Amino acid sequence: MLMKYQQILEEIHKEVVPLLGDGKVADYIPELAKVDPGKFGIYLLFLNEEAYYIGDAHEKFSIQSISKVFMLALTVAHLGEKVYERVNVEPSGDPFNSLVQLEYECGIPRNPFINSGALVITDLMISHLNNPKEELLSFIRELVGQEDICYNETIAASEKACGFKNAAMVNLMKSFGNIKNDVEEVLDLYFDFCSIEMNCNELARAFRVFANHGKGVIDAKRYITESQFKRMTAIMQTCGFYDEAGEFAFRVGLPGKSGVGGGIAAILPGEYSIVVWSPGLNPKGNSLAGMKALELFTTKTGTSIF
Ligand code: DON
Repeated sequence: MLMKYQQILEEIHKEVVPLLGDGKVADYIPELAKVDPGKFGIYLLFLNEEAYYIGDAHEKFSIQSISKVFMLALTVAHLGEKVYERVNVEPSGDPFNSLVQLEYECGIPRNPFINSGALVITDLMISHLNNPKEELLSFIRELVGQEDICYNETIAASEKACGFKNAAMVNLMKSFGNIKNDVEEVLDLYFDFCSIEMNCNELARAFRVFANHGKGVIDAKRYITESQFKRMTAIMQTCGFYDEAGEFAFRVGLPGKSGVGGGIAAILPGEYSIVVWSPGLNPKGNSLAGMKALELFTTKTGTSIF
């Protein structure tokens, strides 16, 4: 049977509209609190170029922690498995900005997709890349095939002005010897990485490389090896949604990554990438309507990795 994807996206849109007021826009970064909670968009992109979208799928938003996937991919592509000597690959079961495990686990973060792990990845990038700020942007632009993807300096500055927990984390890890560079430099670059703006369409194009096992769909370039792809996807599945990774696997069943800007990017390897954006968050910091939309999508289409 030919699946009517556009119709399915329209049905999902109708079903989630009543939820758009239920989530809470992230306000611990003052600039993010200004985003309209009524926004909603989905972009679905298949490896064979078929594409479907609905709503605000072409409006840029702050990708926040979704950038952690690009950071890991670029770092692993440069350094290989050495990365995992400095950061673990276990779900944390704690909020993304939690400090508790770091102390009794001697400054080794649970995984690269929580803040502490991404701070260590940032530190590795400073040590091993010539110009990590430029290189991450070029990497993402190349994955998307488009130049106009940028940092938002206002959002980065807004987060820096009140990023005390991230500062505490990086200092604690420094005390254990797991941060090699200057803590201010690591924090500044981490906040820049969080401030990247993209829309659902651009994110779906970037994540399609991961759906295609680490190879560009158009240029067939290999960005990460098959084994690096397998490992990154496993980390998305088990750690991509902070202390709600189990719930996301249970309800949606796709590897993916969320950010407090309300975006969620997910993949069905070998088939498609899908990105949803709705800025209202649930208490765990994941997009409330976004999670529901993806749950409806995998249920209605019968597609998930399980
Ligand atoms: O570090 C922070 O708090 C944010 N800039 C990123 C938060 C986010 O999206 C979820 N964190 N893993």
